[in-house]
Amino acid sequence: MANIIDGKRISQEIKDELKQRVAELKEQGLTGCLAVVQVGQDPASSVYVRNKKRACAYIGIESRSYELEEETTEEELLQLLAQLNEDPKVNGILVQLPVPEHMDENRIIQAISPKKDVDGFHPQNVGALVSGLPGYVSCTPAGIIQLLKRSGISIEGKSCVVVGRSNIVGKPMAVLMLRENATVTIAHSRTQNLREVCKQADILIVAVGKPKMIDASYIKEGAVVIDVGIHRGDDDKLCGDVDFESASAHARAITPVPGGVGPMTIAMLMHNCVEALTR
Ligand code: GUN
Repeated sequence: MANIIDGKRISQEIKDELKQRVAELKEQGLTGCLAVVQVGQDPASSVYVRNKKRACAYIGIESRSYELEEETTEEELLQLLAQLNEDPKVNGILVQLPVPEHMDENRIIQAISPKKDVDGFHPQNVGALVSGLPGYVSCTPAGIIQLLKRSGISIEGKSCVVVGRSNIVGKPMAVLMLRENATVTIAHSRTQNLREVCKQADILIVAVGKPKMIDASYIKEGAVVIDVGIHRGDDDKLCGDVDFESASAHARAITPVPGGVGPMTIAMLMHNCVEALTR
């Protein structure tokens, strides 16, 4: 039976370290504020936004929310972002994704000042990551690195397969694993022999967005399995992209859903917000 990688515990540990750091910075007169922008009322987004604001309160930084109507125009949102970019009190800005279909997501992302882009989505921050320069790193992949390191799982020289190539998870994940000296493969929906490719992995990171797609037949005996997916199953229970019951028979260590990768995303967002205080 696999060890469970406890994202809830590890994220709490990180938030407690950050809380301490925020208190120290406050003594030096450094305080911060995160602006959280949500367009429309997607229920899942509302939960994420609430949790992000709660985490800010926990570590001791201010947060401001901007809840905009679904019908808000792209120009209106861009105007708000321009204002927030200029506001010296605001040092972190995030727009909860997805934005409504009438908006160009890339245009929105690029309108956030790279210095305040605590999500790490701006092309300047993505470019910095690829080049090995300082910048904000996308929170979910950064959280997965912390999960591995804080669970004592070594990355260097290991074969890592990332399934999924999104800008938010798959691509930055592959770059981060490369930075940790793993041998990295990016697999995706067009990959031939996906099962065989996954079976080569010492560390398998799955971000495909399909409930329980990856079962034991994709997993090498003794591999570490990281599940980025989160779905509400037909039985109303939460599940990931990995079939946990099946996969945990082959894996050495595995993240559960919920309580694995999810809480780490917010912990790393807080990490980026604390970094924003000292920029
Ligand atoms: N939607 C899903 N994940 C994320 C995230 O990490 N940041 C933002 N802003 N929106 C998201």
